[in-house]
Amino acid sequence: MATAEQRPHLNIRPARGDDAPALRDIFNDAVEEGFATFDSSLRSIEEQKRLIAMAEEDSRRPLFVAELRNYVCGLVSVESHEERVHGGEIGEVKVFVRRSFRSYGIGRQLLLVAQTEAAKLGYRKLIGRVLSDNEESLRLCKITGWRVVGIHEQHARHGNRLRDVTVVEYLLPAVPKVE
Ligand SMILES: CC(C)(COP(=O)(O)OP(=O)(O)OC[C@H]1O[C@@H](n2cnc3c(N)ncnc32)[C@H](O)[C@@H]1OP(=O)(O)O)[C@@H](O)C(=O)NCCC(=O)NCCS
Repeated sequence: MATAEQRPHLNIRPARGDDAPALRDIFNDAVEEGFATFDSSLRSIEEQKRLIAMAEEDSRRPLFVAELRNYVCGLVSVESHEERVHGGEIGEVKVFVRRSFRSYGIGRQLLLVAQTEAAKLGYRKLIGRVLSDNEESLRLCKITGWRVVGIHEQHARHGNRLRDVTVVEYLLPAVPKVE
């Protein structure tokens, strides 16, 4: 059995332009499985590149990838939620792990990085919107200290199906500003 020292190290870093094919595939897997809360259409490489470029240009919408031995196996993003209403204080998190890499703790580590980075960026709260039958995602939220706020009934349209969406939230600790 591999010892802790021999186990491959999970590297979590900001996404780069050349991650686009991997991130597109990971996202599209979730769409095909019906796990992407408000997306039921597949993402193109161009769209994925645009999202990475937006994250590179705007430090308040970070996009991180997780890689194991240089193989990209997950992503997490934070973006401002209803900015006009909340003045950029509340972020929305989305997390995806490549199908064959799930249940190994990668989602948990990505979520922890998103929480830490969002606190540094001055967000005071994070929210997530998860399909109510997405048990893995709700379990991940539970073990990382997120709270279930409630359920929007028949909220996300997937073709001719209307699905319930569970809203979860996580209050971030205030990070003192370095002068
Ligand atoms: C939700 C998701 C990101 C979780 O990522 P993951 O890497 O599999 O999660 P982890 O391995 O960190 O698991 C976290 C916890 O969830 C639970 N869990 C995850 N997968 C599980 C499974 N298949 N069976 C039972 N429990 C599971 C475990 O309790 C685990 O806790 P533990 O570490 O104490 O065992 C992943 O399943 C995924 O990408 N799903 C499709 C996309 C999606 O639904 N994204 C969220 C919508 S924004």
